[in-house]
Amino acid sequence: MHESVLLTESIKYLKLNKSSIIVDCTLGYGGHSSNILKQIPNGFLYAFDQDKEAIKYADNRLKQINNNYEIINTNFVNLKEEITKRIDKVDGILFDLGVSSPQLDEAERGFSFHKEAKLDMRMDQNQTLSAYDVVNTYDINKLTKIIQTYGEEKYAKSISSGIIKARNIKPIETTIELTEIIKQNVPEKYRNKSHPARKTFQAIRIEVNDELNVFKKALESALEIIKPGGVICVITFHSLEDKICKQIFKKVSELPKELQNLPVIPKQYEPKYKIIANIKPSNNEIKNNKRARSARLRVLERIR
Ligand SMILES: C[S@@+](CC[C@H](N)C(=O)[O-])C[C@H]1O[C@@H](n2cnc3c(N)ncnc32)[C@H](O)[C@@H]1O
Repeated sequence: MHESVLLTESIKYLKLNKSSIIVDCTLGYGGHSSNILKQIPNGFLYAFDQDKEAIKYADNRLKQINNNYEIINTNFVNLKEEITKRIDKVDGILFDLGVSSPQLDEAERGFSFHKEAKLDMRMDQNQTLSAYDVVNTYDINKLTKIIQTYGEEKYAKSISSGIIKARNIKPIETTIELTEIIKQNVPEKYRNKSHPARKTFQAIRIEVNDELNVFKKALESALEIIKPGGVICVITFHSLEDKICKQIFKKVSELPKELQNLPVIPKQYEPKYKIIANIKPSNNEIKNNKRARSARLRVLERIR
């Protein structure tokens, strides 16, 4: 089962009232959404996910609470288009990024380096690009860059050379084959630290799902559809996602540089947004849920 991260904190910052209109961009198994739904009996919840398995489970969970919700089975990159079809603006938007524990646990999804499966890693099962294509068709420069940037892996070059060598003999078909290649191409002492394949798998997953570009675009859309007084809560698990969030929140909550020294700021240039919070999970949460280790919650309010 998926244990929601920063649940109490994110719900608190959403400032729910009985009539709030909320968007959960990452429904997953419904941990956040079910909490939200309980508190908005006269409001409405729109929940996005691109994973059919997660939707089936969460729908059953939400049904038992109330019927004032709609699940939108698409990539949250379509946030603005989908929401503005239904309603003008909303009171709160939540992103709880990444994959859920059941996605990692289901071997056949190919997300896990522990479990034998075809190389897949698609969150949207209808998408064509899969981990197999990345591993077997990308050239060495592209592979190295992905593993280095998205995985922050210091042995990226050596791992991608190992991948190219192996696939020149035969295509790399499974997660365990890839894990073995990674192990053979990092120094002995690195193999015993955290799992040597963790960072490369993460990098390939981010590439397959285009996670950083998709998130940036969706967060920019969120700024447009949030009402004055409304809040955007973002839970990230990766430093590059967090960096995107931090930069966008900073940019929209500060005066442009050229205006910072003006004695009076014309009203139209005053920032429309304000940073409300930037927090990490408590030690207690991290102790009880390993996934919380790298999590961070950032909250932005639209002030006018
Ligand atoms: C960490 S889980 C969310 C868990 C949820 N908050 C809970 O408490 O149960 C992230 C979910 O977002 C979905 N997801 C990730 N990126 C997505 C995207 N670009 N569009 C739609 N859904 C996405 C994944 O399929 C996964 O189910």
